[in-house]
Amino acid sequence: MKAIGNDVEFAAGLLRSGKLVAFATETVYGLGANAWNESAVARVFAVKNRPHFDPLIVHLGDTAMIPFLVQEWPELAQRLAECFWPGPLTLVVPKNPSIPDLVTAGLPTVGIRMPQHPLALAMLRLANLPIAAPSANPFGRLSPTCAEHVQESLGAQVDYVLDGGPCSVGLESTVLRIEGASVHLLRPGGISLEAIEQAIGVTIASSYETTADHEPSPAPGMMTHHYAPLTPLHVVDSVAAIAEVLSGDSHQRFGLLALTDSAHAQHFAAVEILSPGGDLTQAAANFFAALRRLDQAGLSRIYAARLPNEGLGRAMNDRLRRAAVG
Ligand code: TXA
Ligand code: MG
Repeated sequence: MKAIGNDVEFAAGLLRSGKLVAFATETVYGLGANAWNESAVARVFAVKNRPHFDPLIVHLGDTAMIPFLVQEWPELAQRLAECFWPGPLTLVVPKNPSIPDLVTAGLPTVGIRMPQHPLALAMLRLANLPIAAPSANPFGRLSPTCAEHVQESLGAQVDYVLDGGPCSVGLESTVLRIEGASVHLLRPGGISLEAIEQAIGVTIASSYETTADHEPSPAPGMMTHHYAPLTPLHVVDSVAAIAEVLSGDSHQRFGLLALTDSAHAQHFAAVEILSPGGDLTQAAANFFAALRRLDQAGLSRIYAARLPNEGLGRAMNDRLRRAAVG
């Protein structure tokens, strides 16, 4: 069987027959299964080693599918979908009884999103099914932003990888819960809070920073430790302060992840600069691949410099906080 390629018809056919397809989206690669097929969805959890209390996002290729997925579709959800779909926004709304409890971890709500990547959209439309898809990585680890990342970590356990090149956004979707006319941020992501607030003229409450590692929580998948490299990662406010301490410890190999170049970079064995010009959108696109390279550089520790807490910087800081060892 073809293990990797860009054959959308083949990928859609596999999904229709209950197989697992990892596929490119504009955010990160997803590991997809027919959301209405419980044994296929169960395999997604098994392959990722994902706990069953962490709900999956359901992907759709056509808004005509919405009534089959949700129980209620608030006017605010409709407005947000019109503004941001296809795109990196997941809307959590009351679920349609046809969606298996396995998909939503027993919650009465379902997260739905229409991705923007042309291959993902074409595959979803051909399959003509709702596709449950978490990020295509082992649970708790770094999200994959190119097909090679998926092959490295999940390899033969996936029936096909639909290779759409590197992900253009590079961070998972922003997750919003919609309750009537109120909107709550569950996970910062590929669409900034500023852009959403501006589009709908509503201030958004957020609880993602306080969500703890136990149930019940508003976004059960938002574990305090997540998105983690194997190398211990520490988040710092200033590279200068840490470089001073490190310069006395020459027998250890330390890595640095920073938005822009630093005069202190010479103290580190490996350095990843996310955007030389300080552009947060470019930084997001490089984020997970840069962390992965540092993780593979044989370092004893990775230091990550906190990003400006605005726009996509907020989502990257959230991922860094969860990746950090303490
Ligand atoms: O960009 C993305 O969202 C990617 C691509 C593949 O679409 N998917 C992704 O899925 O990041 P995953 O499984 O890694 O993260 C899904 C998270 C859950 O961990 C949880 O925090 C939230 O979305 N979520 C999903 N359904 C929910 C629900 N019904 N209620 C609250 N949170 C939900
Ligand atoms: Mg994930």
